[in-house]
Amino acid sequence: MFQGVLFDLDGVITDTAEYHYKAWKKLAEELGITIDRAFNEQLKGVSREDSLRLILAHGQQENDHSENEFAALAQRKNDNYVEMIQQVSPKDVFPGILSLLKELKGHGIKTALASASKNGPALLEKMALADYFDTIVDPSSLKAGKPAPDIFLAAANQLSLPIEKCIGIEDAQAGIIAIKASGALPVGVGEAEDLGTDIPLVSTTAVLTLSYLEELWSRKNDYHYS
Ligand code: BG6
Ligand code: MG
Repeated sequence: MFQGVLFDLDGVITDTAEYHYKAWKKLAEELGITIDRAFNEQLKGVSREDSLRLILAHGQQENDHSENEFAALAQRKNDNYVEMIQQVSPKDVFPGILSLLKELKGHGIKTALASASKNGPALLEKMALADYFDTIVDPSSLKAGKPAPDIFLAAANQLSLPIEKCIGIEDAQAGIIAIKASGALPVGVGEAEDLGTDIPLVSTTAVLTLSYLEELWSRKNDYHYS
């Protein structure tokens, strides 16, 4: 049986992936760069700085901003994002997530937050979920962000579990690549056109119960991916 579940946050626990998109879109527009939802799939799971680099490259502005300007742009996006998430409350937790966390706790299965977001701990507090997590990985402590596996490896390590005994739950292309590379079993929240056809997918978190995860685990050798 699996012994740990490693959760992404934005787009898995709550709808903050949408706020990230809105905040990036606003900043991009201020810079005269157009981004759409298809482009945004590349930004999901990716750190603030790497996201800004991708947006500037998309607008052929990668060499147009000094280091100070770059830092100010990243800050401006975050200020806007932080304003958007002020109203987040326990009501915003996605369906099924709180009951899954309770079931995991009840069965002694460990939980970690493996989010690239520096706003993760504050969001868990706002949603009253902090007590359900055994550990939170500090994304600023990592050498490489998603799609590198580091954050999931660090999460398992902080739980003192072998990564092969863990399930990782993600809504982002970069996050799924990271979980695959880590050795945990990936579960995608989203559509096959974004996340691929080679891993277990759910279209809503409402189906993520302990028994559902147990069933996926029992079939994990049926999934073949590289
Ligand atoms: C990830 C999001 O969880 O965190 C990305 O999917 C975001 O969209 C990244 O860029 C970093 O978040 P923050 O809050 O530190 O800017
Ligand atoms: Mg996410």
